[in-house]
Amino acid sequence: STSEPPTPPDTRVTDSYAYAFDIDGVLIRGGRPIPEAIQAMKVLNGDNEYGIKVPYIFVTNGGGKSEQERCIDLSKQLDIEVSPGQFICGHTPMQEMAEKFGTVLVVGGEGEKCRIVAESYGFKDVVTPGDIIKTNEDTTPFRKLTDEEKANSRVRDFNTMRIEAIFVFADSRDWAGDQQIILDVLMSENGRLGTVSKTFDEGPPIFFSHNDVVWSASHELNRLGMGALRCSLEAMFKAVTGKELKTTAFGKPQIGTFQFATRLLQRWRKDTHGIDSPVETVYFVGDTPESDIRGTNEYNKTTGMNWYSILVRTGVYQTGTQPRFQPRHIADNVLEAVKHGMHLEY
Ligand code: G3P
Ligand code: MG
Repeated sequence: STSEPPTPPDTRVTDSYAYAFDIDGVLIRGGRPIPEAIQAMKVLNGDNEYGIKVPYIFVTNGGGKSEQERCIDLSKQLDIEVSPGQFICGHTPMQEMAEKFGTVLVVGGEGEKCRIVAESYGFKDVVTPGDIIKTNEDTTPFRKLTDEEKANSRVRDFNTMRIEAIFVFADSRDWAGDQQIILDVLMSENGRLGTVSKTFDEGPPIFFSHNDVVWSASHELNRLGMGALRCSLEAMFKAVTGKELKTTAFGKPQIGTFQFATRLLQRWRKDTHGIDSPVETVYFVGDTPESDIRGTNEYNKTTGMNWYSILVRTGVYQTGTQPRFQPRHIADNVLEAVKHGMHLEY
């Protein structure tokens, strides 16, 4: 309201530029911080030759937990305080779809976590693969639910239910079982489980929280990601039905994700630092040319924004070869990336 006093601006915080960070392969690998990441955060928080603090946000394609929970993890890993007000993960923009659908199938992640996230987004009726297997064990011949999974899953009456959309929130922990169930729903008459469509073009829409074919985890080589599951499902749908499957992905490199991130950054700068003016440059540090660099480049091109892409060598991209999408700068690690941006500013 108008009676609230404005937040006094902190004169040490720059109002002209900011940073946005990808997480996996830039700050974290396999649950552990990349060594230079902790120092990089200290530099942004004022430990630098200019005596300046720089606002920053996090834009990851990862997910599987609430934003709140992910921020608690990240705070511990990086030894800083990270707030949900400066954090977007792959499924964050999916909350805008909650109103559109009744019953939805939510796939991926550990245990019940994604169901809980989806319900917190306002999805009205969330079915999981566990519910489907618990209701009919013959669904997945080679997969039995553990006692814990059984306790968390819900027997439902699928005869009277129509699944209106499928959301892959996080990486599948059981590709075979999850793909079987997704295919059953996609091939059904209007989302009615247990039926088979005559035309295979009436299944519900399917949304993925991102499209990374590979990502950077603790193994030295890149690991298969959700985009690989998407490729696999498209190929299987084609093999079984002879038809093309249309799928939609959120996350980077989608322009919508960068727009969402820009709004978040604007609100974050205003609410925590009292900055009202629009940001001039956002230095975006990523490790995946296909998501981070491609998205930044296309976002700038279509909106005229000035996001400056920096590709690091600590994640998906490591070689000296030409990346498929050209960043403004390549840095060995996130600390070098942060220093590069700051040097350009002064
Ligand atoms: O599953 C997460 C991964 O695909 C990418 O995460 O932080 O590199 O966008 P991030
Ligand atoms: Mg990454």
